[in-house]
Amino acid sequence: YSLLTHNTFGFDVRARFARTIEDERDVADAFHDTRTASMPRLVLGGGSNVVLTRDFPGVVWLVGLRGRCILSETTDAWLVEAAAGENWHDFVAWCLDEGCRGLENLALIPGTVGAAPIQNIGAYGLEIAEYFDSLRAFDLSNGVIVELDCADCAFGYRDSVFKRLARDRYLILSVRFRLPKAWRARTAYADLARELVARGVAEPSAHDIFATVAAVRRAKLPDPAALGNAGSFFKNPVVGAAQYAELIAVEPELVAYEQPDGSRKLAAAWLIDRCGWKGRCHAGAAVHDRQALVLVNRGGATGADVLALSQAIRDDVLARYGVELEPEPLVV
Ligand code: EPU
Repeated sequence: YSLLTHNTFGFDVRARFARTIEDERDVADAFHDTRTASMPRLVLGGGSNVVLTRDFPGVVWLVGLRGRCILSETTDAWLVEAAAGENWHDFVAWCLDEGCRGLENLALIPGTVGAAPIQNIGAYGLEIAEYFDSLRAFDLSNGVIVELDCADCAFGYRDSVFKRLARDRYLILSVRFRLPKAWRARTAYADLARELVARGVAEPSAHDIFATVAAVRRAKLPDPAALGNAGSFFKNPVVGAAQYAELIAVEPELVAYEQPDGSRKLAAAWLIDRCGWKGRCHAGAAVHDRQALVLVNRGGATGADVLALSQAIRDDVLARYGVELEPEPLVV
């Protein structure tokens, strides 16, 4: 089964078997299927955060669970829910159309609703952890459906329990968000603020933010449909105050954001760019020429090419700045 259209890098790898999960009964059926029970299993949503390095010798579950609704409304908030296979961006747009504001800074993030909690997606000044209410998941260790709340998910920067303790344990079925009716625009992120000014928007509505974030993303980030990629390839590394002081002494233009505990989150894109990697390539893999944090498939690249390029970048940034870059996508 070709996975070409199921990973946004556009790698032409195959799986031994694939099955589409369209409703919750399919999950139980797939779980109890004795033909594939002993095989390796890979769950794929939009395939926008994976590097498939070779053919997969097992069964791939393609999450196609659909549906979204306003579950309830209280005097101060809406509770909205979407099934795991819903496209994230379409869900955000739908929420706005329903009058439920809050997720607009996360416009145009590729992938599905079910994948969103796994890496606690975030952009332009917002992470989903903030509006996350709970999720329902199928526990692949015992076949039971559970409900997990925000604390259970242990969200962090691009991180959650699903990347750590509970890795491969759950198939997320649906996700709920609590969107307060008291809304305020979040415009602190520099790129967003600048573009709003450029557009002459002084008091942005949620729709203004949605459109502006989408425009900023389109200007910088390659569209996976046109140029294969998985978004940011590395997390922004966090360094302690002492290391930051050393770095800023030699690189006064270093871009960094102070964290509540005094540490600094460095812009990995700046470090990579500064090391001269923008636009450079290895076989068909390349560093995007408008955002150094994004690795792209210029055509014909394999997952191994992307990994080789990423390793060369990591080695270089470590040698030059003593900073470890951690890859963000899941390597399969
Ligand atoms: N910069 C460079 N060179 C570049 C690109 C950026 O020097 O080629 C500098 C810019 O000057 C800017 C800084 O790096 O000041 C940060 O760049 P940007 O605003 O583009 O954000 P980022 O830290 O590179 C993160 C997320 C993105 C998210 C944006 C906006 C991570 C790993 N990535 O990128 O997420 O869209 O912030 O919030 O945190 C993704 O996950 O796929 C993704 C695109």
